[in-house]
Amino acid sequence: NTSTVQAWRAGLLTFHADPAFSENAHSWIEDGLLIVADGKVQAAGDWSTLHASLPPGTPVTDWRGKIITAGFIDAHVHYPQTDMIASPAPGLLPWLEQYTFPTERAFADPAHAAQVAEFFLDELLRVGTTTALVYCTVHPQSVDAFFTASEARGLRMIAGKVLMDRHCPDFLCDTAEQGARDTEELIRRWHKHERSLYAITPRFAPTSTEEQMHLAGELARRYQDTYLQTHVSENEDECKWVKALYPQARSYLDVYDRYGMLRPRAVFGHCIWLDDEDRARIAATQSAAAVCPTSNLFLGSGLFDFEEADRAGMRMALATDVGAGTSFSMLQTMNEAYKVARLKGSYLPALRMFYLATLGAARSLHLDDRIGSLAAGNEADFVVLDPRATPLLARRTERADSLEEVLFALALLGDDRAIAATYSGGRQVHVR
Ligand code: GUN
Ligand code: FE
Repeated sequence: NTSTVQAWRAGLLTFHADPAFSENAHSWIEDGLLIVADGKVQAAGDWSTLHASLPPGTPVTDWRGKIITAGFIDAHVHYPQTDMIASPAPGLLPWLEQYTFPTERAFADPAHAAQVAEFFLDELLRVGTTTALVYCTVHPQSVDAFFTASEARGLRMIAGKVLMDRHCPDFLCDTAEQGARDTEELIRRWHKHERSLYAITPRFAPTSTEEQMHLAGELARRYQDTYLQTHVSENEDECKWVKALYPQARSYLDVYDRYGMLRPRAVFGHCIWLDDEDRARIAATQSAAAVCPTSNLFLGSGLFDFEEADRAGMRMALATDVGAGTSFSMLQTMNEAYKVARLKGSYLPALRMFYLATLGAARSLHLDDRIGSLAAGNEADFVVLDPRATPLLARRTERADSLEEVLFALALLGDDRAIAATYSGGRQVHVR
């Protein structure tokens, strides 16, 4: 019953700004109380000042020693690629041919799609991810299967049907017309239905004809409050291919710009081989980058430039990009983001990484009025982190001198074992 008040006692970590640009970006309450009513955060504060305000008989779950923060947000992930995670191939384009396309073919079958969607959602919740921006396949039934499964669990999810009408096997090809019709129908069926939101999803410029790009751009204009997701500047071979296919465009990102796809709620996966003008366009249009370090290292795509992105003022969010990503865990994604930043000569504090997986991601999605922090009124999607989940983590945590060190150990050493519980809309959706 979500109309009853519930409460949790734990350390509370929440953000109100980007730690890279603000002194007081986060708040940390070591002995905190989180109060939830009707699936929304009612208050988050000190146990000592808040507990007296609880209605008599309110159940209080005691998570002392653990850390509650907003549920993680994965800004780019392919649910149909769950079964092909960790498939070896020499780079993006061979990997797509050898593994991705054959795997996605099976989603013509709604029963298969439904079964994979359940496994995928189990896995997200096990690693503390409560919202994701999800690619389905070219089959509209893969979208129906996904939202049916996510709504049954009450989750806030964003997803869409892949648009792809060239340079792909026949069994995965739509047409410009049919793809646009299917997309429009799916928007009407799912966008803003319960907690579902729709993402117009041209896979990437090479697999869409100019006609399909044009129609996708029209839909993005007509349905302004939907999302748009695609891939950009991931791999050097891919960039060369796009240059040959769209010789009139100034850059790869400019292909999307010309079709009107840069706008708030447009999220571009990877963004590795951008130039300054591209970065400025993403910032100016309030679009966002989904940064996928485990995928980029796995496929050898390249290293995202956090410093240049910050200089341009780009919105950005961390993302797994499973099946090219090698873990569903946003903690493991932080681990590899940290190392990518180091290889570029920059530095990501743990607080920044947690921001990029929570409030920063919510801002990238223009959803920070609902998710991404423990602010009063937000949807009660949160995660309980256990900094003593394994013997090694416990040992490191015992020796930590600051919150930053505890969070850093969680990011570098943590995985599904560090997620004690996951809550969505105030309901427990996972417990370890
Ligand atoms: N580019 C186009 N499609 C894909 C995909 O499925 N995964 C990744 N990583 N890149 C892509
Ligand atoms: Fe991807």
